[in-house]
Amino acid sequence: MSQNIEYMKTVVLIIGANGQLGSVLTEALKQKFGNSNVIASDLRAREGYKDTFEIIDATDIDRIQEVVVQYKVTQIYHLAAILSAKGEETPLQTWDINMKTLFNVLEVCRKNNIEKVFFPSSIAVFGEGAPLENTPNNAYLDPATVYGISKAAGENWAQYYFLRYGLDVRSIRYPGVIGYQSLPGGGTTDYAVDIYHKAVLEEKFNCFLKEDATLPMIFMDDAIRATLELMDAPKEDIMTRTSYNIAGISFSPAEVVAEIRKLYPDFEVKYDPDFRQEIASRWPNSIDDSAATKDWGWKPEFDLESITTTMIQKLKAKYKKGSKNLETLML
Ligand SMILES: NC(=O)c1ccc[n+]([C@@H]2O[C@H](COP(=O)([O-])OP(=O)(O)OC[C@H]3O[C@@H](n4cnc5c(N)ncnc54)[C@H](O)[C@@H]3O)[C@@H](O)[C@H]2O)c1
Repeated sequence: MSQNIEYMKTVVLIIGANGQLGSVLTEALKQKFGNSNVIASDLRAREGYKDTFEIIDATDIDRIQEVVVQYKVTQIYHLAAILSAKGEETPLQTWDINMKTLFNVLEVCRKNNIEKVFFPSSIAVFGEGAPLENTPNNAYLDPATVYGISKAAGENWAQYYFLRYGLDVRSIRYPGVIGYQSLPGGGTTDYAVDIYHKAVLEEKFNCFLKEDATLPMIFMDDAIRATLELMDAPKEDIMTRTSYNIAGISFSPAEVVAEIRKLYPDFEVKYDPDFRQEIASRWPNSIDDSAATKDWGWKPEFDLESITTTMIQKLKAKYKKGSKNLETLML
């Protein structure tokens, strides 16, 4: 009973709620806590969104503070960031945005006694100094992108706020996220979403990575479940306060193509690697997520075959219903 009362009092703020992960996580959190207890926010309003939405530019600390006080927020999911590939276009601006937004969130959390904060990190924290196979949680971090540098720094700041102020910050290093619900926002693993759209539209796919560029990936449903499970875990079980590795599955573009061709035998692909191949070549092939498994029971459910059949089935249904305008595919 007392657990129920506590449960009902949770009010969640999502920052960066319009993005690939944020749009799906918002729906999952609404299911968990109730529509009126979840405040979605982003730089711009989301067309057609029916529940509570606030415009927040997370570089503006006063605006975050205002919304936190207005809704008596108890948990924050801070998803806003400039991602790996996009970040390389304007490195200093990417650093400014990624760090400023994180500092603002951490400070607002500290000052308002926010109960729990989620800050996603990424496999982009790894560089040449980390083993490529089964990369351990505590591998040496020497990221080569500004995005990776900002995430590695962010992880250490998250741990600092935990150690110094007791703020309950929790973090996952997501692999590349693949989902049918939303569109990716400028990362190095975006190809693994785009390729399914092209297959369903029966168009040729130009791949910006090499055919053998194996990277760790995760299905959206697994990524969202991991986030909820981490945030639900008892505080004393969270032994890693920088960020947890989580693995889904690892595959190369050639392996996705082979899987897609089981359903679309004529699917055509051209490999045309660009600067994103350079980024991918420094990232792990596979991830050791035993710390997450041990501390909060993490276990992925989707493999390449189930990802492929689900992506194709769901995207086919979406394209049948709507136009070819990709924005209409968003939640
Ligand atoms: N998608 C992936 O494969 C992946 C992998 C690893 C880590 N992550 C991390 O997960 C988080 C979410 O990723 P995503 O794929 O949904 O990214 P995305 O680019 O799709 O979404 C990010 C959202 O943040 C918003 N945003 C940007 N600057 C902002 C600001 N100043 N204030 C408020 N909002 C702002 C954008 O408008 C966008 O809607 C990011 O922190 C990202 O680094 C994602």
